[in-house]
Amino acid sequence: MDLLHKFLNIVLLPITLTVLLLFMPPFLFLKFIWSLKRSIYRENVAAKVILITGASSGIGEYVAYEYAKKGARLALVARREDRLQAVADRARKLGSPEVVVVCADVSKVEECKQFVDEIVNYFGRLDHLVNNAGIAQIRLFEVFTQFSDIASVMDINFWGSVYSTHYAVPHLRKSKGKIVVIASTAAWLGTPGLSFYNASKAALISFFETLRTEIGQDIGITIVTPGIIESEMIQGFYQEKKKKEMTQGEFFSEAQANWIPTETTEGCAKAILDSTCSGDMYLTEPSWMKAGFWVKTLCPEVFEWCLHSLFVIWPWTSKKD
Ligand SMILES: NC(=O)c1ccc[n+]([C@@H]2O[C@H](COP(=O)([O-])OP(=O)(O)OC[C@H]3O[C@@H](n4cnc5c(N)ncnc54)[C@H](OP(=O)(O)O)[C@@H]3O)[C@@H](O)[C@H]2O)c1
Repeated sequence: MDLLHKFLNIVLLPITLTVLLLFMPPFLFLKFIWSLKRSIYRENVAAKVILITGASSGIGEYVAYEYAKKGARLALVARREDRLQAVADRARKLGSPEVVVVCADVSKVEECKQFVDEIVNYFGRLDHLVNNAGIAQIRLFEVFTQFSDIASVMDINFWGSVYSTHYAVPHLRKSKGKIVVIASTAAWLGTPGLSFYNASKAALISFFETLRTEIGQDIGITIVTPGIIESEMIQGFYQEKKKKEMTQGEFFSEAQANWIPTETTEGCAKAILDSTCSGDMYLTEPSWMKAGFWVKTLCPEVFEWCLHSLFVIWPWTSKKD
């Protein structure tokens, strides 16, 4: 057995790389033709039933408006009812023929079952599930004192999407529907101070990639990795920072983040709907963020040094100046 592994260690990688080099040009050409076809025959979502979690603000809110403009029927889920009602009113004005609002906490499995049942009973079907609800907490790992403080990050970001998906899948199978997963570029960038958030988004990506191998023939899954998008989540980082004295481990000031161009919520939502209707497997928005993925993959030492200097050393030394 040892001999077999030794043999594979030596020959498999060069053989794989050679085959890939030969295979890539025709594969890329076919991919291009396929993407052209998909961009011409886009899904029409008029009158379809779309369930969006975390629709009371930010990306979820604007995704709801984009679906509304295309005439989709909407089910909006989040915890703040007043905000959901305001989004529902605007979605109706933008063209949605029917909007229902459900107050629920996605981190509670029984509430996820209840809202999926309620929505399917009301509309009689479900076509798209947009798993968007999420939170972030920004602090260096060593600054955390209680694990109970950060359990909600995993409960909402990962389990919230898993629970909603579990109850939605039988209905999406019937409609040959789609699942949209709002993950994050943070899943592969490893930005300091976001260890639990990053891990929750990496878990999401791995979970839905696996699910795609199981049910992808019947239900399309688009995994979205946004960069930095204008939203309450990002404003929250800044406001928290303004309120507090900077201590080591609490960082991410406005000045620090200002050099990273943010994308508008509307622009991101448009790209998400476009990609979903085209049946894309992945979307990174803005797409230039993919450069980070390649630098991280090809030169991890340089990439991690830059992140450490920018997010761990610089905020602390600039505070002392
Ligand atoms: N903004 C960015 O730069 C960025 C980048 C990459 C990925 N993302 C991801 O995009 C998604 C949307 O975030 P956002 O930037 O639009 O932030 P946001 O404006 O804060 O929106 C978060 C949404 O999630 C909802 N939510 C939070 N906890 C919930 C819970 N337990 N149950 C139900 N709903 C809950 C919030 O509604 P309620 O408070 O009313 O419940 C809100 O509607 C998140 O998954 C986030 O991780 C954002």
